[in-house]
Amino acid sequence: MKKTNWWKESVVYQIYPRSFKDSNGDGIGDLQGIISKLDYIQELGADVVWLSPVYKSPNDDNGYDISDYRDIMDEFGTMADWEQLLQDVHERGMKLIMDLVVNHTSDEHNWFMESRSSKDNAYRDYYIWHPGTDGRPPNNWESVFSGSVWQYDEKTEEYYLHLYSAKQPDLNWENPKVREDVYDMMHFWIQKGIDGFRMDTITTLSKTPGFPDAPQVKEGPFQPATQYYINGPRLQDYLAEMKREVLSKYDLMTVGETPGATPEEALSLTDEETGVMNMLFQWEHIEADPGTGGKWGEDTWSMPEFRQAMTKWQIELESRGWNTLYLSNHDQPRQVSRFGNDGEYRGESAKMLATCLHMMKGTPFVYQGEELGMTNVAFETIEEYRCVETRNMYRAAIEAGGDHDSLMKAIHRKSRDNGRTPMHWSADANGGFTTGTPWIGVNPNYPKINAERQLGDPDSVFQYYKRLIALRREFPVIQWGTYQVILEDDPYVYSYSRVMDEQTLLVICNFSDQPRSFGWDALHAYTRKQLLIGNYNPGVELESDMTLRPYEAAVYLLQS
Ligand code: NOJ
Repeated sequence: MKKTNWWKESVVYQIYPRSFKDSNGDGIGDLQGIISKLDYIQELGADVVWLSPVYKSPNDDNGYDISDYRDIMDEFGTMADWEQLLQDVHERGMKLIMDLVVNHTSDEHNWFMESRSSKDNAYRDYYIWHPGTDGRPPNNWESVFSGSVWQYDEKTEEYYLHLYSAKQPDLNWENPKVREDVYDMMHFWIQKGIDGFRMDTITTLSKTPGFPDAPQVKEGPFQPATQYYINGPRLQDYLAEMKREVLSKYDLMTVGETPGATPEEALSLTDEETGVMNMLFQWEHIEADPGTGGKWGEDTWSMPEFRQAMTKWQIELESRGWNTLYLSNHDQPRQVSRFGNDGEYRGESAKMLATCLHMMKGTPFVYQGEELGMTNVAFETIEEYRCVETRNMYRAAIEAGGDHDSLMKAIHRKSRDNGRTPMHWSADANGGFTTGTPWIGVNPNYPKINAERQLGDPDSVFQYYKRLIALRREFPVIQWGTYQVILEDDPYVYSYSRVMDEQTLLVICNFSDQPRSFGWDALHAYTRKQLLIGNYNPGVELESDMTLRPYEAAVYLLQS
């Protein structure tokens, strides 16, 4: 049964404001810069803009460390700029969703400054403090950004917990006052007119009481401990309360960031009656690399594993849930470098990946620059990297005796900065991003890969994305059809169908840099076969036995 909501029929464009467009020459993207590029987003066809955080922040983690939830970061502009942005977005018939970062604040947030000032301060319990055990941190949990999750604070001689950087202390959600303040803040933004939230690390709000040690699974003093804080014991209570106090009162788009979520958890988190969010970012498809080295280990991602993960989520959320469709964001490397080919077949593979994703059921998310086929970067020195996760990992690994060259290789492959180099607007200096010195290096391939060039080229990656988005709006089968994988053992070609009423959509994607054959017996049942879109010119004729060119993608509308 099809149940319509505006957020199911939307295409979201994600902006990482620091790297999008600088309007005042200080080298940092800003709100006026975004305003100046709304026509571009509209031209692409996206109708929702998700802004990564623009709140006041000392930028230890580029805005994911918030020091004032109700104000705008100086480098980005003023509240008046933000209000103008919201108005301009709405005037275009588009919507704006904001990042909700409430697992932690900045250590420069007033609450934390009060909290750390003394043990009997009214804000002490806004955060998670612990005296430690025998002069050591309370447990061995490893921070997502390396080292211990506990930071010793001399002033009151206790440790505070931070799942991310030491400048991102975790809020104590056990404290009802924290929750009330968060809900007030959510009302504040909703009443300003926003259309929803992307909920940062929303499943880590509740920590296992007693903070038990995590089992030793790797060398070194700190151990991964996600089982003690993802989906913790009180998470459902907190989320139910947030729904009751805030979300249920409005018609919003809510998207949870939920590392490690299973389809079963997704169904409960997004259940229309009892769930708290509309949809969530699952990670299985982008972590379809079962290597043992974790994030920084060898990337053994493979198409068959990716297909398996996508298929699982498409099927399990088919009638009761709703998927997000994404391959990139500000925390991931560039998709064309990671899953495609950023050399000879950059254009073809960027389009192929987009085809594979955009023909699925769910709400597509396009991350800035993805629509141009932007690629990873390879800075030579660690000093050129800005990402706190990358820098901390490098430092900890070097201290543990790691080898510089292999660490840099891993960083080139996986650093979050791959996705954070400035947007390429034109072939002008710094890709037209800034007239000043950019806060992070620009990818040197901007003269070749940039928006100005692609807007005027009918064969560009940008124009291809635009057509994919337009097709979604034109053909209800793309929006609502039932998904079924075809030839599920093929090692190179990912093909699937979408079926609705009399219409069948056939999507064929060659994930390899070699010609590959595709043969599907069931094709005989169809008399009409119309090529809707393909990434080669001329497109490939649909036959029951055919050869696909490297990274070829094609979508057909079939009728019997
Ligand atoms: C997830 C965000 O996407 C990431 O950029 C950030 O570092 C962490 N959450 C902590 O807020």
